[in-house]
Amino acid sequence: MNTRTKWNTKHKERIDQLQEPAPNPRLKNLAAYLKGGTALDLACGLGGNSLFLARMNYQVQATDISDVAINYLQEQASKYNLKIHPRVCDLTELKNLNWQNQSFHLVVITYYLDRKLFPLVKSIIKESGYFFMETFHQSPQIEDQGVSNQYKLQPKELLAEFSDWTVLFFEENDQKGRQTIFCQKR
Ligand SMILES: C[S@@+](CC[C@H](N)C(=O)[O-])C[C@H]1O[C@@H](n2cnc3c(N)ncnc32)[C@H](O)[C@@H]1O
Repeated sequence: MNTRTKWNTKHKERIDQLQEPAPNPRLKNLAAYLKGGTALDLACGLGGNSLFLARMNYQVQATDISDVAINYLQEQASKYNLKIHPRVCDLTELKNLNWQNQSFHLVVITYYLDRKLFPLVKSIIKESGYFFMETFHQSPQIEDQGVSNQYKLQPKELLAEFSDWTVLFFEENDQKGRQTIFCQKR
């Protein structure tokens, strides 16, 4: 089964179960920094973060490999008249990602890890713009999260990766096995 088919199946199941996808709680807690502008939500899934950001006055570009997720988000955006532009795209195909000529006030990635995206992300965030990321890390307290190590961060990896940015929030939660960063480009 290829990546798109696998995620389409998961998203179909979730759509049947849920009212509306919720934003990431750590992102929501950072609302005081979220002043609006342009935002990019990479691997957006059903778009809990995109819907939240659009309501915080961002014009959001949202991308995901799953057409099921993107169609769902497009329906939600139309229903609530929100400025979200969802687009199907495979983030492993870097050469096809045409954001090189654009820049964003905020880029968000939650629960998707592809280290090859970091240089692109750093280049498309405006001066003083923000980056939020949260995903699994290799926690000493969790033996099996059902996620391959390939998709887990090393301890403090995001701090090291964004060491030349101003870090406004960083958390490594070993019990939950997640690492979160919110940082600002200098
Ligand atoms: C764990 S979900 C996270 C979704 C969302 N960011 C969230 O936190 O709710 C991972 C997402 O990555 C997407 N994805 C997986 N591989 C991808 C790829 N190569 N390009 C773009 N999206 C991909 C999946 O469709 C799925 O929506």
